[in-house]
Amino acid sequence: MITCQDLEKEIEKVITTPDTNSLMFSNVGDTFKEHFRNINIYYAWLTASVKVWKPKKIVELGAETGASTLALYLKKQKDTKLISIDYNSQWPFVPPKMLNDKKNVKLIAANDLDESMIKKNKKLLTGIDYLFIDTNHTYEQISKEAELYTEFLASPALIVIDDIQLGGLDKFWKEIPYETMDISKYHSCGFGFFIFNR
Ligand SMILES: C[S@@+](CC[C@H](N)C(=O)[O-])C[C@H]1O[C@@H](n2cnc3c(N)ncnc32)[C@H](O)[C@@H]1O
Repeated sequence: MITCQDLEKEIEKVITTPDTNSLMFSNVGDTFKEHFRNINIYYAWLTASVKVWKPKKIVELGAETGASTLALYLKKQKDTKLISIDYNSQWPFVPPKMLNDKKNVKLIAANDLDESMIKKNKKLLTGIDYLFIDTNHTYEQISKEAELYTEFLASPALIVIDDIQLGGLDKFWKEIPYETMDISKYHSCGFGFFIFNR
């Protein structure tokens, strides 16, 4: 079983490969390239982590513009499913190529805590082996997300959490009963991951 440190070493190798950026941007238009450049390397980390972890089913909670959704898509394997859930129904940074990939991409405009939405999408959500959480940064919200989505997790599953130093996430982060990896060097509000196992 790979440790968080070893996984991070593998991801770092991909991020620091000189042509990673050109590879990463090769599928997207100029608007997206500019946005990715202007934000930070955290998007590059998301792309690299998918390339290394090779998940079969990625679920994103909290997409906002869809920039992270795109980052999670760029280096996924051909048949990997990507499901993104946000109140927001826009995902403006998701390019047509992704929107048209209906077999593999599902964007759900909903409250991620809505149990009827979860029930309706039970089959789709089962077997998550990469969960990215970036919603409202309260302890209550992330605790409820953990409660509702854990049953859908594969084992092992990579759990990536953005903004671990914001709001109530710090408390949640400290309570995680697994080895955690703080990679806040990629994001000013904190960033980290752990590997879930049953
Ligand atoms: C920080 S933004 C996500 C940023 C995005 N992941 C990125 O890195 O580009 C947080 C998003 O979480 C969404 N959100 C917050 N609470 C939510 C909930 N209960 N269900 C669905 N989406 C939620 C908001 O609509 C917002 O778009």
